[in-house]
Amino acid sequence: MKKDIVLGEIKDLLEALAEKADKAKDLLGGDKLKDPDLLDLLGKIGSRAKDDSVRMGDFQGEGIATYDVVKFLNTMLKVEYQGIFDYNLHAENIHDEYLRERFRKFGATEIEHARMLCQLIRKLGGTPKPSSGHLRRQTPTTIKEMIERHLEGEKKAIELCEKGLNVFTSPELTWALGTIRLDEIDHSRELNAIYDQYRLSTDIVEINKKYVPPKDIDFDSDEPWVE
Ligand SMILES: [Fe+2]
Ligand SMILES: [Fe+2]
Repeated sequence: MKKDIVLGEIKDLLEALAEKADKAKDLLGGDKLKDPDLLDLLGKIGSRAKDDSVRMGDFQGEGIATYDVVKFLNTMLKVEYQGIFDYNLHAENIHDEYLRERFRKFGATEIEHARMLCQLIRKLGGTPKPSSGHLRRQTPTTIKEMIERHLEGEKKAIELCEKGLNVFTSPELTWALGTIRLDEIDHSRELNAIYDQYRLSTDIVEINKKYVPPKDIDFDSDEPWVE
């Protein structure tokens, strides 16, 4: 792991510590008389962590840029993972052949996007951090809601790509974000057409089959959808 990344992570941890200390102080707020020492300690921890995180920023120099790129790519990776799981889960559980085939196709593209992002993150010395399993469990839903959910996911992905394209200048990054953006625009276009076709459908889809992701992507820190 590169130095910049470790320093950036420490900065994040310090910020999180300061936030936790403030939260704990708020929770104890009503017990001022009971725990004055604890309140005092939490106050010291919080302000020290805040100061230290600001100071860490001074030492990062150029490194902060690399760390911020990794963080941004990890945010994108979470959206792609959500897409991989949602599309494939829905494809596994839906009876309509046409929708199954579309969702499978979209899901396969999201896997390619996740691979691209994992490679970029590693190249920058970071660690890919996909979304956690609990986000993927879903209650029964209508086909209309299902398509709406996919449209929202695509919109989020396009917005992130555009945000990145406005900030980053590295050819490798802009090529990847540009490619992903075009794919997501295609997905949105197709989904809108599908939406028009199925929006009156009241069919309920029960999610009762699990989706097991391909072994060759990095699902290491991740738990496949189970139950
Ligand atoms: Fe994608
Ligand atoms: Fe997509």
